[in-house]
Amino acid sequence: MENKTPVNNAAAAEVASPAEHDAAHQGCCASRRAVLGGAVMGAAALGLAACGPSGPAEIPEATGKPEAVMKVSDLAVGSQASAAAGQTKLVLFRPSEKEVLAFSAVCTHAGCEVSPGSENRFHCPCHESWFKAEDGTVISGPANAPLPRFACEIKGEDILVYI
Ligand code: FES
Repeated sequence: MENKTPVNNAAAAEVASPAEHDAAHQGCCASRRAVLGGAVMGAAALGLAACGPSGPAEIPEATGKPEAVMKVSDLAVGSQASAAAGQTKLVLFRPSEKEVLAFSAVCTHAGCEVSPGSENRFHCPCHESWFKAEDGTVISGPANAPLPRFACEIKGEDILVYI
């Protein structure tokens, strides 16, 4: 078990530098701005459709080596936490007594670290993206793709994540 972070402790989030953020904005968001500023509104509609939020990430099979990332007693039903399995940073959500969901904590916008948020939402502090803790989908951007999901289970006292 390693590197668990208590619920609502977002202070330790490691974020990309502003230069890295700007570089990331050269993609979808820069295109969106350029398209909106352009004279051809048909092109704007196409550009925005390509940048729109997508559905939840697939739930992966529980294969590979399971890693205990946290004691289940440290994650109350309805709460969220940051955790790590080796070098893989995670955000966890426990929707019920018998289920924990694990997602990558790497924001799909520009790679900042996503943190536990509020009201069953994960939060990226870099540009204010919010994700649903129930399935990792984008609630509000600029992120436009869901957080990748990892297979996860409760076994005994441990929360296991399959990386
Ligand atoms: S890195 Fe931009 S919103 Fe997360």
